[in-house]
Amino acid sequence: MESACLLTHAAGAAQAAGQPGLHEQYDAVRATSMTLAAPLGAEDCQAQSMPDCSPVKWHLAHTTWFFETFLLSRFLPSRAAFHPQYRMLFNSYYNAIGDKHPRPQRGLLTRPALAEILEYRRHVDEGMRALIGRLGGEPAFDALLALGLNHEQQHQELILTDVKHLFHANPLRPAYAPAGSPALPPGTPAGWTRFDGGATRIGHDGTGFAFDNEGPAHEVLLQPYYLADRLVTQHEYLEFIRDGGYRRPELWLSLGWERVCAEGWEAPLYWHGQRDQWRVFTLHGMQELELQAPVTHVSYYEADAYARWARVRLPREAEWEHACRRLPASVHALRANLLESGHLDPRPAPPRKEHRGPVQMYGDTWEWTCSAYGAYPGFRPDPGAVGEYNGKFMCNQYVLRGGSCATPRGHLRPSYRNFFPPEARWQFTGIRLARDA
Ligand SMILES: [Fe+2]
Repeated sequence: MESACLLTHAAGAAQAAGQPGLHEQYDAVRATSMTLAAPLGAEDCQAQSMPDCSPVKWHLAHTTWFFETFLLSRFLPSRAAFHPQYRMLFNSYYNAIGDKHPRPQRGLLTRPALAEILEYRRHVDEGMRALIGRLGGEPAFDALLALGLNHEQQHQELILTDVKHLFHANPLRPAYAPAGSPALPPGTPAGWTRFDGGATRIGHDGTGFAFDNEGPAHEVLLQPYYLADRLVTQHEYLEFIRDGGYRRPELWLSLGWERVCAEGWEAPLYWHGQRDQWRVFTLHGMQELELQAPVTHVSYYEADAYARWARVRLPREAEWEHACRRLPASVHALRANLLESGHLDPRPAPPRKEHRGPVQMYGDTWEWTCSAYGAYPGFRPDPGAVGEYNGKFMCNQYVLRGGSCATPRGHLRPSYRNFFPPEARWQFTGIRLARDA
């Protein structure tokens, strides 16, 4: 990891300043995973709806495996593993660690049972707490601990998106959580904010935690551009559908049009019905469209086609980060709809009179950029197995920015780069428009 550590070099100093210490940070992240699994039964935690999704039981085990493999085994090599075959069963993609159970077959792992995975979590938590007590504050340990906690936060978002996909596959369309307050802010008109561009630095600057793919920080040259003040709404996307958006090949990238035809796409994932009679599946079950809320569960292909239909384009990732860094913190804090808000759905943008410039930069939906996911100049993954975390996926994927309604608070920063293949739709992915000035 190029990163240093969010998890302080001096845990004692942080505690003295009233910030949570390493034990508290570890316990909080681990507890959040259990809270997300709490509404689910053992059967819910077992099933796998498609190869891209994983069973919740596997997420709970794999995040634990990460701490056991990269911290406990490294810093306490004489410590016995909880189970010798877990090293293979819950290895996601780390070739340097060894064999892996095939990803599409994770749902077939009826054994170990959920109860045994929960015992695995308790066992590793016990070891980790002792290890934090011994090594907390040492930079090499703190950096790996921060990586493990940020890794688990990424899987917390995946728990929600994978459960959503699983429950949608069930004709009963069960709700993961009861619907919250229906009190919605009114929609705000779309607007544009101009940014001058010029030479600017993007990427992680070396202070605080970041994933390796966020660095090195480097200079880019941006032309002047406009960024939309909010995300594209369901109402606006409905206009695209009504205008034949899914039936007009001239709006689509070639690969996107192939996907539309092959899979019969007529609307975002989870939309049911046709024309003006759409309903949508959410983590609260089937719902009416919230027309002023951001559209979500669209692929890169759909985001690109929508932008072409709107006669503009998607932002470049450097434009998004440049804009994000120039907005006051209060804009990001303004009703940022992240995991802790509990909505579990994107929400309408706050009224224009409450802000100037773009809102919804953090939370609600991940924002597709038109930037291919690749290495920044000078990027070097760490040696060893953790170097496989990000770098080897720098092919055939696009960068997304800004987090979603399922992203834990504190997990984001302006340089954060998410990435998915252009056909992926099961994440909370949405659209912010940009145009040249
Ligand atoms: Fe993972």
